Amino acid sequence: MNQSLLIRRPDDWHLHLRDGAMLNAICGYSAHFGRAIIMPNLVPPVVTGEQARSYRSRILAALQKHVTLRPLMTLYLTETTDPADVVQAHRDGVIAAVKLYPAGATTNSASGVRDFNKVRPVFEAMAEAGIPLCVHGEVTDPDIDIFDREAVFIDRVLDPIRRKTPGLRVIMEHITTSDGADYVRSQDNLGATITTHHLVINRNHILVGGIKPHYYCLPVAKRESHRIALRQAATSGDPRFFLGTDSAPHPDHAKESACGCAGCFTAPNTMSILAHVFEEDGALDRLEKFASLNGAAFYGLPANDDTIRLVRRDTPATYPAKVPAGDDEVTVFDPGFPLYWHVEDNA
Ligand code: DOR
Ligand code: ZN
Repeated sequence: MNQSLLIRRPDDWHLHLRDGAMLNAICGYSAHFGRAIIMPNLVPPVVTGEQARSYRSRILAALQKHVTLRPLMTLYLTETTDPADVVQAHRDGVIAAVKLYPAGATTNSASGVRDFNKVRPVFEAMAEAGIPLCVHGEVTDPDIDIFDREAVFIDRVLDPIRRKTPGLRVIMEHITTSDGADYVRSQDNLGATITTHHLVINRNHILVGGIKPHYYCLPVAKRESHRIALRQAATSGDPRFFLGTDSAPHPDHAKESACGCAGCFTAPNTMSILAHVFEEDGALDRLEKFASLNGAAFYGLPANDDTIRLVRRDTPATYPAKVPAGDDEVTVFDPGFPLYWHVEDNA
């Protein structure tokens, strides 16, 4: 008999929907999510409440028939962000959070923050108004090895920020290390998103047997012991850990290049992969917490009212290897194992 699991409709607490032709091509692949926190790293970035409002309208127009997905917008923090604009955008229901990118840390982060003291007034206003801060947690110091950048960020940047503004609610986005998971467990007012792909790949997947650009993302996948620590955190049911796919489409020509872009496009098959991972770890009963309950609670929102059904069949679900996007194609993340869990919406 087919095994079946009914869960509240999941949310994606970290998603890149892009803009223009790419937005139109890929937004439908997130349709089985109820809500998604939309990243603001467009070119140019989404830095004001007005720009977030306009970007949200473009997303809603692109979504059309995929109406169940509700985009929750974020502002891209810069050293000139006006605290009053942030507070007003939040009060107006335009934004759900603010995103901190250290300048130069990742895709389109050149306008990010260099001097964290300059944005202290924004942090203070956010703490006061209860606006969460989503953090890309990597230092950009060229002297720090790329595999150590998350752990060093916690000590040098994140912990000092949180000590100076203790009321600030922070989400460490896409944690990739046991250091990240341990820090989150040891603190108050702190949560973390974990991506689907970081539960599946370690750094060997990127580098052994030839370089695999479609497994390259930032923060880069770390050694196996860290992947296991992430699996333990995600499958534990601990309310501080929740799903943020960081699904980040790039055209294949931009990934398969001498200087390839960072990002894994996991939106189409994320729920099938997660069901596989949670089953493998004997934690299917905790998948709903990770994908549908913990994130909403952290953001102070109710869980979605409706449900989706995951059904384990004898034949694998089929997902396209690539999807068309304008004149380009985007490669879908390949977990490297067959996906027997099928997503049935309208449950
Ligand atoms: O892998 C990533 N891709 N990490 C990020 O932080 C940004 C994202 C993107 O926008 O492509
Ligand atoms: Zn991201």
